[in-house]
Amino acid sequence: MCGIVGYVGKREALPILLDGIKNLEYRGYDSAGILVVDSKGKLSLAKSVGKISNLEKKITNQNFSGSWGIVHSRWATHGGVTEANAHPHCDCSKNIWLVHNGIIENFQELKEALLKRGHHFRSQTDTEVIAHLIEEIKKEKGLSLKEAVPLALKKIQGTYGLVILDRREPHLLVAARNFSPLLIGVGNQENIVASDVAAILSHTRKVVYLNDREYALITPQDFEIFNLDSQPISWRVQEIDWDLKAAKKEGFPHFMLKEIFSQPQSLEDSLRGRLLIEEGNAKLGGLERIKETLRKINRLYLVGCGTAYFAAKVGEYMLEEYAQIPTKAEIGSEFRYKKPVFLKGDALVAISQSGETADTLAAVREAKEKGVLTLGIVNVVGSSIARQTDAGVYQHIGPEISVASTKAFTSQIAILALLTLFLGRQRNLSLVMGKRIAQELSKIPSLVKKVLSQADLIKNLANKYAGYKNFLFLGRKYNFPVACEGALKLKEISYVHAEGIGSGEMKHGTIAMIDKNFPSIVLAFQDSVYEKNLSNIQEIKARQGKVIALATQGDKKIKKIADDVIYLPKTLEMLMPILAVIPLQLFAYYFAVLKGLDVDHPRNLAKSVTVE
Ligand code: F6R
Repeated sequence: MCGIVGYVGKREALPILLDGIKNLEYRGYDSAGILVVDSKGKLSLAKSVGKISNLEKKITNQNFSGSWGIVHSRWATHGGVTEANAHPHCDCSKNIWLVHNGIIENFQELKEALLKRGHHFRSQTDTEVIAHLIEEIKKEKGLSLKEAVPLALKKIQGTYGLVILDRREPHLLVAARNFSPLLIGVGNQENIVASDVAAILSHTRKVVYLNDREYALITPQDFEIFNLDSQPISWRVQEIDWDLKAAKKEGFPHFMLKEIFSQPQSLEDSLRGRLLIEEGNAKLGGLERIKETLRKINRLYLVGCGTAYFAAKVGEYMLEEYAQIPTKAEIGSEFRYKKPVFLKGDALVAISQSGETADTLAAVREAKEKGVLTLGIVNVVGSSIARQTDAGVYQHIGPEISVASTKAFTSQIAILALLTLFLGRQRNLSLVMGKRIAQELSKIPSLVKKVLSQADLIKNLANKYAGYKNFLFLGRKYNFPVACEGALKLKEISYVHAEGIGSGEMKHGTIAMIDKNFPSIVLAFQDSVYEKNLSNIQEIKARQGKVIALATQGDKKIKKIADDVIYLPKTLEMLMPILAVIPLQLFAYYFAVLKGLDVDHPRNLAKSVTVE
């Protein structure tokens, strides 16, 4: 979604703003704009459609001097992708300027009222209304920017991460947040405000997160945070320990490929210090405090969106089989609206790489309001879900830059396996089985390495199948969600139609699609559902469908019936999804590269979906 950076300090703002917004490019956007103000209040403004590089071209040879400014990358919601709709937006007098991430739900009525008061609008966005509203309040009541902003915010319904300046009030940025992420990067004689920590890491690692319905007054020397009643709020500086290298491609052509190949390491990082092999258990520091409450859980909801939902679905199977807790994976955007009936002993686990996904966050809030214990499996430290859940487990995999999620998925499954161990051992999971799971989990990073060593084979398969326009992904039990994830990966970066279903469902309709032009990728490992998957392959072959099978190392039988086979090492059935998804990630990647597509920036997608 939209990216925001604001700078106020003693250095030239332009390079800092551009560097910051470029580091947010991975989030997905369609246009951008920048405003720099000098000490006399002179404005330098540029906007462009498309890449940040277009914006940079516009700025070349222009004098953008000043140590105070804002920049924005827009992901269109209200109004087309045009320069006029790109942020920053301003009031009638061109004194008040702002950038916004979120949606102002009551913008239409506010706009109509402001039009009646003589305001003149230049864009079709919901955002512009905020600038005029502040102008109106300032004028009507004779207020300064810092006095007018909270009054304006009280009139706004919707979500916002906002950074506002008034060129008549030098070196002051007002930042405000409601549901859209915003943080202050604390510097020396300078401060940076941004929607994502990636924008500030090259300048500072000290971060203060704003909470919902708070605003901050930010100057080079200082910042203060208030609630909307203008009462001061105390804050805490957090240190971000992400390695800056993680935000560079380091020789890989795309972030997606780099992140696929980083999975042995990211899995090590997620598991580090958390496996108690001899005790057949897991040590999850973030849950220690509520250990006794967890013992009493009777039912679990695992909530996520997209890839995180598929990880939740794997978790559902694990937790039911080994911890014997009734568990239900839920899609964030559905959960909130289906009016869930909570019972005593329920807990909700929100699974989210970014920790900012609006639908998942809404599910957390719904559960909290009903007094349900909420937990998070989150990657981004200090993100909204991390802060708003009662307890949780961090993924520790560093930033995931590629829009298509890969390393976050495998890490989420690994953490769900740890959670299964922990909750299982609190219940009836035997020491022997606990040890087995812990041992197999500890071997997972090296098994992932083995799978990755087959990248060339998978590249060749992508080549062989590049002409097909439809794919069916099939899997059963633990590998059903992996089939869905494989299809999602192919769709989102290759724009090829793909469907993931439980193999057993094929006969109930989808098999009608199968012919020689509709290949299937079948996850058919030697596990508890092996024979059933073999039957499904036979059924496809009987209809001239091509089959790529993912199979267990050494399985000769499958070679005779499938057209192509990718062999994977053996592990516990519940952990197989971690290995099984890797060839599917690589297949989607190579497929998209062959089509010449922009793998890291798939069309219409944003990395962190902060609007509903
Ligand atoms: C797909 C993808 C998305 C995300 C989903 C949830 O590759 O990246 O489906 O998994 O938007 O995002 P998080 O995990 O940040 O809540």
